[in-house]
Amino acid sequence: MSAPAKFTRALVRLPDDNFADGLTASCLGPPNVAQARAQHANYVWALEACGLTVTRLEPDSRHPDGTFVEDTALVTTRGVLLTRPGAESRRGEVAAIAHALEECFPAAETETIHAPGTLDAGDVGEADGHFFIGISARTNVAGAQQLALWLAARGFTSTTVDIRALPGLLHLKSGFAHLGGRQLAAVGALAAHPALHGWDVLLVPPGEDYAANCVRVNDVVLVPAGFPQTSALLRAAGLRVVELDVSEFRKMDGGLSCLSLRW
Ligand code: GLY
Repeated sequence: MSAPAKFTRALVRLPDDNFADGLTASCLGPPNVAQARAQHANYVWALEACGLTVTRLEPDSRHPDGTFVEDTALVTTRGVLLTRPGAESRRGEVAAIAHALEECFPAAETETIHAPGTLDAGDVGEADGHFFIGISARTNVAGAQQLALWLAARGFTSTTVDIRALPGLLHLKSGFAHLGGRQLAAVGALAAHPALHGWDVLLVPPGEDYAANCVRVNDVVLVPAGFPQTSALLRAAGLRVVELDVSEFRKMDGGLSCLSLRW
């Protein structure tokens, strides 16, 4: 399996004291903010151990979901697209991320999703220049179309995956990950989707769906701790697995991919 393009940078935002006030549909109880901060620190160390330079933004008390930075921008090798998150309470997160990205990506070359389009970049999975775009409760058809055009203008291909009828998936990447080359990980509800035909799909075992939100970062795959069958399958596929406890982020419907922008 070939390794995806090498990441050298990441952007994260530390969880705020009011992290528990964010959006969630999980029934796992409120998160422990101190524990979330400790898990976040481990996550950042793991990214650094993968060779990434990590920019840490301070907590933002106006946006309890602000630690889930991935949803606010799509960073590609051919430019940045700022999103228009589907949840109104999250729209204000984008400006600060745009500002932070200006250090690396000139504002003049950065575009944005416009109304009536909505897009959470947690619904966007890149696989070596091909993009899977989830249509979800957060990303609407207009947003997906704007993204597809933006990608095509840059020579990328894309397919849409409608997850609105699939239970338990907030975002496409709640149930899907690119592992390198033609290999994907996907939950059972997604594995047979026509958009995934022709790809080598590693099926995440029933009961371990949350582990589909794993992230290939250079030579390793970051995997949520507590899902031994998935970790074993990834190792059997020849991948180096690093398990990270993200239990407090799971309580807020987030996971490993949402916690950083990587490029
Ligand atoms: N709590 C993350 C989200 O709902 O967007």
